[in-house]
Amino acid sequence: MKEKKQNNILELYKPYVPEAVTYRISEGKGSLPSERSETTIIFIDIRGFTKLADQLDPEKATEVINNIFAPIVNIIDKFGGSINKFLGDGLMAIFGTPYSHEDDPERAARASLEIMKSIEENGKIKIDNKVKNLKARIGINTGLCISGEIGSPSRKEFTVIGDTVNMASRLQENATPGKILIGEKPFQRIKENFIISTPRKLKIKGKKDLVSVYTLKGEKKKISFLEKKKNSHSYFMGRQKELKVLKETLKKSYQSEGQLIEINGELGVGKSRLILELTKDSLAKEFNVLSGNCSSWEESKPYAPLKEIFTKIFGIKFDDEPKEIDKKIKSRIKEIDSSLLFASSYFSRLLSSKIKSLEEIMEQSKEESNLLIRVVKKLLWSFSSQKPLLIIIEDVQWIDNASAEFLIQCYKEIKEYPVMLICSFREPHKKKLYIGGAKIIKLSPLKNTETDKLIRFLIKEKNIYKLMKDKIITTANGNPLFIEEIVRGIKEKRLSVDKEKQGNNTEIFADFQIPDTVQSIARARIDLLPVGLKEILYQASVLGRYIEINLFQRITNLQNKVLLDFLKKLQKYEFIEEIKPAPQLQRYFAFTHSLIQEIAYNSLLFKTRRSLHTKIGVAMEVMYLSKIDAKAEELAYHFKNSDDKEKAVFYLNKAGDKAQPLYAFKNAINYYLDSIKILESTILEKKQLTQLSEIYNKLAFSQSVVGERKETEINLNKALEYCRKTKSKDNESLILMNMGNLYGDMGQWDRAIKYFKNSLLIIKELNNLKRKARIINNIGLINLFKGDTSTGYSNLKESLTLCETIKAEDIYIMALNNMGIYYDMVGEWRKALDIYKRSLSISKRNNNIIEISNTMGNLGFAYSSLNESEQAIYYFQESILLSEKIGDIYNKGINLIHLGEEYLKKDNFSKTKYYITKAEEIFKILEDKLGLADIYRLKAKLFKKSKRWKDSEIFFKNAIKVYSKFGDRINEGESYYEWGDMLILKRDIDLAKKNLIKSRKILRNIGAKKHLREIEEKLNNLKK
Ligand SMILES: Nc1ncnc2c1ncn2[C@@H]1O[C@H](COP(=O)(O)OP(=O)(O)OP(=O)(O)O)[C@@H](O)[C@H]1O
Ligand SMILES: [Mg+2]
Repeated sequence: MKEKKQNNILELYKPYVPEAVTYRISEGKGSLPSERSETTIIFIDIRGFTKLADQLDPEKATEVINNIFAPIVNIIDKFGGSINKFLGDGLMAIFGTPYSHEDDPERAARASLEIMKSIEENGKIKIDNKVKNLKARIGINTGLCISGEIGSPSRKEFTVIGDTVNMASRLQENATPGKILIGEKPFQRIKENFIISTPRKLKIKGKKDLVSVYTLKGEKKKISFLEKKKNSHSYFMGRQKELKVLKETLKKSYQSEGQLIEINGELGVGKSRLILELTKDSLAKEFNVLSGNCSSWEESKPYAPLKEIFTKIFGIKFDDEPKEIDKKIKSRIKEIDSSLLFASSYFSRLLSSKIKSLEEIMEQSKEESNLLIRVVKKLLWSFSSQKPLLIIIEDVQWIDNASAEFLIQCYKEIKEYPVMLICSFREPHKKKLYIGGAKIIKLSPLKNTETDKLIRFLIKEKNIYKLMKDKIITTANGNPLFIEEIVRGIKEKRLSVDKEKQGNNTEIFADFQIPDTVQSIARARIDLLPVGLKEILYQASVLGRYIEINLFQRITNLQNKVLLDFLKKLQKYEFIEEIKPAPQLQRYFAFTHSLIQEIAYNSLLFKTRRSLHTKIGVAMEVMYLSKIDAKAEELAYHFKNSDDKEKAVFYLNKAGDKAQPLYAFKNAINYYLDSIKILESTILEKKQLTQLSEIYNKLAFSQSVVGERKETEINLNKALEYCRKTKSKDNESLILMNMGNLYGDMGQWDRAIKYFKNSLLIIKELNNLKRKARIINNIGLINLFKGDTSTGYSNLKESLTLCETIKAEDIYIMALNNMGIYYDMVGEWRKALDIYKRSLSISKRNNNIIEISNTMGNLGFAYSSLNESEQAIYYFQESILLSEKIGDIYNKGINLIHLGEEYLKKDNFSKTKYYITKAEEIFKILEDKLGLADIYRLKAKLFKKSKRWKDSEIFFKNAIKVYSKFGDRINEGESYYEWGDMLILKRDIDLAKKNLIKSRKILRNIGAKKHLREIEEKLNNLKK
């Protein structure tokens, strides 16, 4: 009967037993090699269990067995051990073979404690109204064992034998029910982390002497991984001066004097470590620490480090659906700064992935592009009012263009907020980011004395230290990463030498050559890895710095547990480390230093690399099927480096299309260029030709936005060339329109109009009314610029009518505002007012804050021209309020100047001065020359009113210089007029005449009629 029950248990749990073993067998092609290895053995005995089971009916017995053994099997499995045998009332489990972990005794101890608890919970069995409490006795021992297969070829069994096993069994026999007894060796190995009784001497059968045994009582409180990581860092050496500077800077930013720091230095010199030390400072605890990384494989991904930071701020998790993301963003913005709620869609756009067509992108106004950066900035500033911010952006040598632009924008305003921004930069990379005004800390190598101390800390064995220190100091050159790698190399060397040599350090290290670069020493360490493990490291390097286990598993095709064991081993060698999974990513391991990843990656054959990239790309496509757009940049990176050209083109293009709606045009340009390069190397059939034409067009558009006009022109022509081969009319008209826009931007009015008209001809066939309305609007604006105001007027009218019929509101607003400009130019300010008010009401209905704010400014301006001062002031102030709300300090500055002008008209000099000062602050921050010119001009007018001719003249001259340099003809012309007027008051008639004539010429040329009549009158008076 007993025999039967036992088999019963075995049968039930057999499927679980051999997992690790079967894998090892399959790996070893059918046989397990015998091994000597350190193993931890657990014996568990549930006293009287079989006897009890005998008294139950078979069905009940099975249930009891299930309740008790299933949890045990699961627990052993969970901790990475395996059950080796079922024996009578209990079982034997092993940890450490066939696969070992660096902490097998700990694992065995944890598993045993959990098993005890589980039996306590599940071991209450009712027989004839009596409850019987089952109790287990457990013994654990660690030591050298021989493991391997025993038996005949047809029936093999995996076993461990040796004294250690016998001792474990004896320990179990000597344990009191409910207790865990452990031997000396496991005690030594786990004592740090567990609560253990004082030793007891025991007489063990077969042993001459008494042996020490211990009762394992429980676990000590665990140190969280993060703390552990920090504790495990080596002693921090030197850098006192740099740290002091950083701490002082931190203090300043704490007092709302925002700071910007750049830490420069070569690979491994300690940039990241220095930042880490700063975050341990007590004042840093008062800060919200936000960090983002740049990396070589994310160089094109728009806002890569910012996405990381905002994912943290909004608490977004990896699996969140877009709806959930939107919800989180909204509720968080509400907490931080509810006035930014109107812009929540920009954040959604930043963090999820929306793709728009080229035409849709073109509809987004340029204004909006600044808005994205503005609101993102504004949210950070508002966030800093809750708690100061310490923003860390690492490895900016790999920063993407959009993030770089963002940081540059930030620096201008950061001074006003309790924010400290630190960037680290690895020299001697090419600099992509110049932040003027950043304080630079350059890290030089450690001094020899410091290196010496660090070595002494890292090498505990005195004689090895003495033997090696001079060699290390001269080779490492004060680079801490190099020092660490050398020391690791030394440890590995010592482990790898033969038994008989061990201990004889002089002999071991006599011919120990330290390679002379950190790269080669790290490579040497990698080369020491056993086959198999090394391949795993290489493969992981293709993923980048982070190793997502799920993804990696698909690439290696290894079982999860096996793969995990491999990774744990690599961790033991300190090539990678487990990291606390960031909520937004399923990251589990990371390379301890990017150097290791780089070396491993560079060691791969190109062929292998490409095939791994393909594998990763394909695996990602499967894994992220429903979120493929979110992974476009990663997929673009992997396929770009694979052999699959078609997919490379597909994802590069997608990544570009994703960058455009984020106004990350430089990033988009990179993606499109990559995509074109690959595409042009393939055979060009109709599909490819169409693709090429479209991509060239998109590329040209992005280039035109960032002001690369020459490139735009070349690429639009290429787009046209490919397009004509495919005979796509729609595409052709779009390209022609873009050419019109380009020449318009370049001031080549007639050429622009020619292209627009060509495009219109094609559109007539296509009946694309929206595009038609847009083009006619564009033609209208160009005619205004040309000074052909009447043609301009009729174009705008036509566009407006067309927009009304097809209900194209976005274009309608643009045309309305252009119409306002027309009325302003011809001096019909009442009509301008009407138009602006109509535009305002539509913008209000659409809650388009940018347009509302702009139009209010325009309204103020028109009222000012009409000398309706109260109204003008009202609208300027409203526009300022809105600008503040959306962080648009540029518009705020402009309207401050308008206010100043308005008060000057009323001879309220003190208010004028007040607004001048306010506006000046802003334009100095923005380094906006034209804005400053407006201020010079206002100052000149102020001096003119107080009859300080000389000062006035200086400022007019200054303003005119800037206007003419930037080609701002209207303001140049008007300034000459105002200066001329001043000269009349000063009675400098000759110069006055000269200036008035200059002014008339300029203003006539551009068809601006605003002051022409006054100029004529004044010139006539002067003649008299
Ligand atoms: N002052 C120091 N004292 C002790 N150890 C240090 C010191 N500086 C750096 N280290 C150690 O040297 C290694 C490399 O440092 P770190 O990662 O900070 O370099 P890095 O300059 O950021 O390199 P990279 O250019 O690759 O980003 C780390 O393991 C770090 O702990
Ligand atoms: Mg670093």
